[in-house]
Amino acid sequence: MIETKQTTTLGRLPIHYRVLFTGFLLVIGIGLMMAGAQIMLTHGMADGKPGLSKEDIVYSYYGNRSGSKLEAALTGKMKSKAPDDVRFTLIQWARDEAPMDQWDKVGPLLQKNCGNCHDEESGLVQVAKPEVAKQLAEVDHGASISGLTRVSHIHLFGISFIFMFVGWIFAMTQFNQRWKLILIATPFVFLIVDILSWWLTKFWPEFAWLTMIGGFGYSLASTVMIMTSLAQMWLPRWTDGDW
Ligand code: HEC
Repeated sequence: MIETKQTTTLGRLPIHYRVLFTGFLLVIGIGLMMAGAQIMLTHGMADGKPGLSKEDIVYSYYGNRSGSKLEAALTGKMKSKAPDDVRFTLIQWARDEAPMDQWDKVGPLLQKNCGNCHDEESGLVQVAKPEVAKQLAEVDHGASISGLTRVSHIHLFGISFIFMFVGWIFAMTQFNQRWKLILIATPFVFLIVDILSWWLTKFWPEFAWLTMIGGFGYSLASTVMIMTSLAQMWLPRWTDGDW
């Protein structure tokens, strides 16, 4: 057991500091919940089904390399919308990486079979437009390297500040010393695991599970730290009613 002398405890801090820390922790707590909700709404829907699954993470970072959106639509939901020979021509065009010198042939097929629904008013993707069709014909490679680099550095810099202050405040609680050290260190470790897992998943989809563990790990640790800190700042057991 590691011994350290506890000099300041949260419950004994002057009230102005407790108000300051409480404000910060409440806002961070709400922020964390919003982050969770956002992950569910963006990544959670990546595979077209609600709820976060391993497939969502694979689609977001590694992509869906089994084919293009155009091919997926023509063999799936849009299968009934065009005769087989038309679908065959369109799929072939997508697999040939959408050569634009064949647009004379492909464009009219898309216009005739798909354009009625996928027009400007519909709000659907305008599949009969050359630039849109080309994009739909591309194989989805998931997150780009530049995108990942950007998101990684923003996350590392931004989130480490949050954990710095959450951990700093929590360090002043009365808590089992061993667990205190573990809880303070956990978010930083998992933050690195999380970012690392995005990069690993970008190249090897098998690593998607690591992303789920990473996010779960630091949410849990910060929830315990925030709740404990708030309780010890305001509950009489720790403050002795001494405001
Ligand atoms: C009868 C109307 C109708 C016709 C005809 C039609 N579509 Fe669609 N399409 C829809 C609707 C509605 C959706 C969106 C709803 C959904 O996904 O179920 C959709 C969705 C799609 C999507 C998915 C877009 C995305 O971002 O995932 C693609 C791709 C697509 N259609 C391609 C085509 C192609 C190619 C044709 C012609 C062969 C075609 N559609 C013909 C109504 C139509």
